[in-house]
Amino acid sequence: MLDQLAFPEGFLWGTACSAYQVEGDNRRNQWWEFEQQPGAIWHNERCGRACDWWQNAEQDFDRMKQLHLNVQRISIEWSRVELEPGVFDATALDRYRAMLGGLRARGIRPMVALHHFTNPLWFERAGGWESPESVKHFACYAQGVVTALGDLCDFWLTMNEPIVHLVQGWMRGIWPPHKRSYRATRQVFLHLLQAHAAAYHVIHKHQPAAQVSYAHVFKVFYGQRQRSMLDRIAAMIKRRVVEQLWLRATIDGKLRAPLGNGRVVPALVNTLDFIGVNYYSSTAVRFTPNPLPLFGYESIGAGSELSDSGRNGPYSAYQPRALYHLCLELSTIPKPIYITENGLPDADDDQRPRWLLAHLYQIYRAIRAGCDIRGYFHWTLVDNFEWTEGWGLRFGLFDLDPQTQVRTPRPSAHLYGEIAQHNAITRDLVMQYTPHKVRDYFVD
Ligand code: BGC
Repeated sequence: MLDQLAFPEGFLWGTACSAYQVEGDNRRNQWWEFEQQPGAIWHNERCGRACDWWQNAEQDFDRMKQLHLNVQRISIEWSRVELEPGVFDATALDRYRAMLGGLRARGIRPMVALHHFTNPLWFERAGGWESPESVKHFACYAQGVVTALGDLCDFWLTMNEPIVHLVQGWMRGIWPPHKRSYRATRQVFLHLLQAHAAAYHVIHKHQPAAQVSYAHVFKVFYGQRQRSMLDRIAAMIKRRVVEQLWLRATIDGKLRAPLGNGRVVPALVNTLDFIGVNYYSSTAVRFTPNPLPLFGYESIGAGSELSDSGRNGPYSAYQPRALYHLCLELSTIPKPIYITENGLPDADDDQRPRWLLAHLYQIYRAIRAGCDIRGYFHWTLVDNFEWTEGWGLRFGLFDLDPQTQVRTPRPSAHLYGEIAQHNAITRDLVMQYTPHKVRDYFVD
């Protein structure tokens, strides 16, 4: 009788977070400035000290070690390390050296993102991502970081979800810089891609053997009404713009319509060493003649089980199988896959254990079906500052009281630690957390 669903030897188990969301007091970027505006953040909350990582990330590194995690995704806060163009702050870089060293000393391999939604104010004032200069600025920043930290990290993401940054900032206009402009969207798309490619090459020049990519958003769009051709077409348009344009450009270098003009940029070709998959749930699309939301309104499939939701409505739906199909589809690209984010907001942890097991089970199935999936990063270890939703959405394996900084493990922390320790989903764990699934997961 099968007692466990074992993952491949050396599989990476970790959590993911970003600098702004955990470090605290990152006052020199556009998000801090935005936060100060009344109503910007749900309940007018503030990031403040966040999880206090700038002072004491090490206490959470200890928690990771206790959970037997062997990898951790962090990001570098650009506005902390590069105070003005080309001027790097040695003290800030030293703090990152201490963090990377601290992770490694605990047997945890760092994966480092250079960009996770925040931009220095000096960069914004110089035109931000709409300016062609942005590419040079980002390359210079990448150079500064890899020179200072490269001996401690060989696993890099140039950017986290550049398409989310683009859509929220320049298409929907709900994040800074609050624009709704097709022209600016096209420019920023091109500059982000070029900046990614520049950083990719800078890192590889310095570290030929490094693993470098980006974390990409996958919303797995599908037509909401089964029989509606228009819904299906709207879903295809979304897929193309949100998921495919960037991914394919980093494979063959081609800038496709509607955000590109068909030209091939040689520097972009093959600028991913692995596929970083950020997956939370799939998304239903209903056609609208309105071009602004790309001809489709997004929603959660009817009847889906929902996680906690923020002020913008239902946050995510329970769709673990979509992750299996996504991995299979991505396997046609000959690159290893890492699930660079997956999780849910669930303050009372009444869903997380079941959701976690179900998503890991689908990853296990995908591996069995031949997908080269090498690691999983749960979003996130400790509740952190959830952008415009403030402290209202709780994604942590540990509950955090941001006032006192007291952390309390949720049951899922224990569950995830056991899985990482055994490198397997054991029958006992399934019995304990989702007994009704034992028969589904352990087909003898
Ligand atoms: C982002 C994170 C965010 C998470 C949960 C991801 O798309 O990369 O910064 O906290 O979703 O909303």
